[in-house]
Amino acid sequence: MTRSSSIDLRSDTVTRPTPAMMEAVMRAPVGDDVFAEDPSVQLLESRVAQMLGKPAAVYVPSGTMGNQIGLRIHTRPGDEIILEADAHIRHYEGGAAAGLSGLQLFPLAGERGVMHAAQVSGAIRPGNDWDPRSRLVCLENTHNRAGGTIYPLDVIQAIEATARERGLAMHLDGARLWNASIATGIPEATYAACFDTVSVCLSKGLGAPVGSVLVGSEALIQQARRERKALGGGMRQAGLVAAAALHALENHRDDLQRDHDRARELAEGLSTFKAVRLDPSRVETNIIMFDITDGRSAADVLAALEAVGVRMVPFGPTRIRATTHRDIGDTDIGAALERAAPILDPS
Ligand SMILES: Cc1ncc(COP(=O)(O)O)c(C=O)c1O
Repeated sequence: MTRSSSIDLRSDTVTRPTPAMMEAVMRAPVGDDVFAEDPSVQLLESRVAQMLGKPAAVYVPSGTMGNQIGLRIHTRPGDEIILEADAHIRHYEGGAAAGLSGLQLFPLAGERGVMHAAQVSGAIRPGNDWDPRSRLVCLENTHNRAGGTIYPLDVIQAIEATARERGLAMHLDGARLWNASIATGIPEATYAACFDTVSVCLSKGLGAPVGSVLVGSEALIQQARRERKALGGGMRQAGLVAAAALHALENHRDDLQRDHDRARELAEGLSTFKAVRLDPSRVETNIIMFDITDGRSAADVLAALEAVGVRMVPFGPTRIRATTHRDIGDTDIGAALERAAPILDPS
């Protein structure tokens, strides 16, 4: 089986630029963005700010940088941030919250990635001299490790009310906020209104090659630009990648529903296999998590799947993640299930 024929369900970050996207790149006006002279970056920033209903935005190289700048501009070293125990910020950002910003994390066990206001309220420190200063609440929507789950808007609003009452700021890791909005019909701006800062990724389901955008007030984003430079994220003719991101935003957002439909189809198929534990009704967007129940490890199963040209990733000793995206075609789900059947449903 050649690599090019494999069905790559590892992540929605594996997409390749389309010819139309490359044409948009070729046409893009560019300049030195560190001197604020790149019209394509500025257009992308203003378009994302407008979509999220915030006054200002800054283009950053990655979702990790978007989140980490978000943390830095709300806090000072020694502060504590409250987040769900499975948050990306806690698990997959290289320990940056502690390493780069001296932050302490207060993780709360959520239900499928969702924390509730009472939990958050209980985690906010009373303010004694010996307490860490509770400063920020971070949510993730959709939630990656929980399996692409959507934060209910009323839960977010209740958490926001608690945070505001106690003087904490709100940051959203909205790497896949687009997916939440497409799935619920709730505009991105309605979600974003509950937060001081939101980081959104263009390089996931939307299919851009590079980049994320952090939005917030003019004052916060001005601070964010300084932090971006300090972290080495000041880019020069970044309009080349920004143009691809703008093309993705303007042309690919509505296609996310197709990814969700395919995820559901894949989940329904996988759930019929004997060695799989999966409830397809829990698949809300483009991420599927399932467990192997016959004693084999995720690593063993993944190696067998890879050998037949189906690629997924481990998310625990027996847990596997599959993610649909725009480079998965009409026949790929059926083909993936057919190839996986002898491995996941051995007779
Ligand atoms: C929920 C979430 N936040 C942030 C990120 C970080 O994005 P990046 O890989 O661009 O740093 C990811 C990446 O997968 C993610 O899933």
